[in-house]
Amino acid sequence: MSKPNVAIVGATGVVGSIMRNLLAEDRDRWGKISLLASPRSAGKELKVGDETIVVQALSAEAFDGVDIAHFDLPDEVSAEWVPVAAAKGVVVIDKSAHFRMDPDVPLVCPESNPQDVSHRPKNIIANANCTTLALIPSLAALNEAFGLKEMRVASYQAASGSGKEGLEALYEQAGKVAGLTGLGTVGHEVREVLGEDFNAPFGAPLVMNVVPKVGGWKDGGWTSEELKVRNESRKILGLPDLAVSSTCVRVPVAIGHSQAVNATFAKDVTVEAAHEVLRNAPGVDVVDDPENMVFPMPIDSVGAKGTQIGRIRQSLDFPRSLDFFVVADNIMKGAAENSHQTAVLVAQELAKK
Ligand SMILES: NC(=O)c1ccc[n+]([C@@H]2O[C@H](COP(=O)([O-])OP(=O)(O)OC[C@H]3O[C@@H](n4cnc5c(N)ncnc54)[C@H](OP(=O)(O)O)[C@@H]3O)[C@@H](O)[C@H]2O)c1
Repeated sequence: MSKPNVAIVGATGVVGSIMRNLLAEDRDRWGKISLLASPRSAGKELKVGDETIVVQALSAEAFDGVDIAHFDLPDEVSAEWVPVAAAKGVVVIDKSAHFRMDPDVPLVCPESNPQDVSHRPKNIIANANCTTLALIPSLAALNEAFGLKEMRVASYQAASGSGKEGLEALYEQAGKVAGLTGLGTVGHEVREVLGEDFNAPFGAPLVMNVVPKVGGWKDGGWTSEELKVRNESRKILGLPDLAVSSTCVRVPVAIGHSQAVNATFAKDVTVEAAHEVLRNAPGVDVVDDPENMVFPMPIDSVGAKGTQIGRIRQSLDFPRSLDFFVVADNIMKGAAENSHQTAVLVAQELAKK
């Protein structure tokens, strides 16, 4: 096949805009690029590098001639439209949660299971959730070396994980509290200044606060995000019995999801051995010189490819265990970069046909 034609579906969104940048960086690899979004955005002109491309409304005809489509849409819209594109022969890489746990849909993080890309009976490949993708490159490397058995995770997730709406809400809330000083910034005064309207989209004020709820409520008091970390990690790593406990928390950060992890292994592990493994792991940047204040932080992760890991410590009370801190740009490795890496694997496969 000549160069594959690519569509970004949801090209006007937070993830879609970074997808456009990644395609522009790698422009020579791809044929025609189409940009799709809702009818609200039809006719808008968007840039992909130097090219100006007119956004089309999502329709079945818009997939004519498309080989690979990056779907960057809300769950319910993906649920309806992914099968339409896949039925037309398009290889779909979908970032919604809708297809991820379907046994006939591979869930791919190229640092862990690139081979799964070519087993796609429904023509659909799922991109994992952004919290999970921040963990996988480190976990995959540590698992191969030491055999991962258990992990306990607490996340500190950015507002942009909720898309355009989340990012705009954080900036708007920050503007509202800018005048508060000293004790005036405490507790109910923040709520008073923000008012009820500012509970959306996080369910509570985010600025000067943290919200221990990401996603919808599920059985047993878990949230959908916490279950995604567990179920998607198991599927990508090929470890169906991996024991996972996760608490997901939204924090007033614009971009960059952080996670504090305690991981237990089948084999003995030391900090030095883990450093050695992680230094050679694809998609992992070891940022670990704590005495000089060098450790991963979301502020430094923005726009960075891959994931960062630091604060690696031997657990004091748990044998064969490490504690560490992982950060990744939730829109980059957590979404667009992973999808782009996956598309490159598909393109290499199509080129052989
Ligand atoms: N943000 C993250 O960190 C992140 C990370 C991993 C995965 N994801 C997933 O990636 C997907 C996109 O997220 P996002 O953060 O980019 O969201 P977003 O900023 O809200 O963008 C949503 C996109 O979907 C389009 N859209 C909405 N309804 C549509 C409809 N009925 N028909 C056609 N297009 C429609 C929007 O087009 P208009 O502009 O025309 O409305 C926009 O381009 C979601 O499934 C999300 O869960 C997000």
